[in-house]
Amino acid sequence: SRVLKPVASVAVQNGAKTFSTSGQNNYKVVVAGAAGGIGQPLALLLKQNPLVSRLACYDIAPVTPGVAADLSHMDTPAKVTGHKGPEELGSAIENADVVVIPAGVPRKPGMTRDDLFNTNASIVRDLAQCVASKAPKALVAIITNPVNSMVPIASEVLKKAGVYDPKRVFGVTTLDVVRAAAFIGEINGVDPRSVTIPVIGGHSGVTIIPLLSQSQPAVKLSDQGKIQELTKRIQEAGTEVVKAKAGGGSATLSMAYAGARLTNALLRGLNGESNVVECAYVKSDLTEAAYFANPILLGKNGLEKNLGYGKLNAYEQQLLKEAMPELLKNIKTGEDFAKK
Ligand code: NAI
Repeated sequence: SRVLKPVASVAVQNGAKTFSTSGQNNYKVVVAGAAGGIGQPLALLLKQNPLVSRLACYDIAPVTPGVAADLSHMDTPAKVTGHKGPEELGSAIENADVVVIPAGVPRKPGMTRDDLFNTNASIVRDLAQCVASKAPKALVAIITNPVNSMVPIASEVLKKAGVYDPKRVFGVTTLDVVRAAAFIGEINGVDPRSVTIPVIGGHSGVTIIPLLSQSQPAVKLSDQGKIQELTKRIQEAGTEVVKAKAGGGSATLSMAYAGARLTNALLRGLNGESNVVECAYVKSDLTEAAYFANPILLGKNGLEKNLGYGKLNAYEQQLLKEAMPELLKNIKTGEDFAKK
């Protein structure tokens, strides 16, 4: 396989400039669900990532080889392969460094993320099983909803196979962070990319906890009522899109952007870059929930250090309290499914 020359890269993360020349810059990334509403634009963005040398597009949809052929005509170095159907899953996953999973059904108006559980649980289980046998060291980033339950399922499957490393399995909550930054940027009249805002907990309704008190710069909102309104808007932003798409699915473009951002962060970590920090939903002992989202430091083995969530104000403590029963229930649902 082609080895790209290490290229020095400079990146800005949470205001800190980091620099790396140490890496290999030739990672294999798999998108499982690559023909979908998220998968296609996600693959489009990853095809442009200089850290990606091989991009494997896996899906069960007949259009999959076409999506790969289409992407392969882009004049960027990543070599694209298409893999359609379960018999081609192994070749997609083998030797993967990162497996990103947006495979599964999305919400329609009136549905909660939990309504997707029955269909999506077995999809994620089967994909995790293949990761366990073909790329047990890969970093796995799960976009499929309900994320709160899918991460426990994948983790249990990897555990059963004897290859589980809690530092390598991530639930993708980046879209919550991206949305919070977009809304705060608008309120403050600043470039949203200059906003740092931790979003903790999980990825559905009340389990999405934006820590507005920790926003940098501070959110320019005068009263607590407005803070609560913004909190609710961030929690319900996915539903805003589901309603606006009127039966045509849920967020795909902003999700692809967010998924590409987290994948890039995982790759920068693998590549030896320092100070790579993102929020993600990971195995955790910070709270009574076995999985929890908050800022984490990424490194050569995935999760390098859990950075915790700092000091919560009274309102945020209340939000966390309200989130916990839901989060615990979601985790149990996932674990019970995997144990069946
Ligand atoms: P979509 O229906 O447009 O695409 C899903 C793709 O998965 C389809 O191409 C389908 O053929 C494929 N697929 C189904 N079963 C498969 C299997 N066994 N193996 C491989 N591929 C399979 O759905 P969309 O909009 O792309 O959403 C995908 C998932 O992402 C949904 O579960 C949705 O709820 C979730 N999502 C998560 C977000 C997050 O923040 N984590 C945000 C938005 C959506």
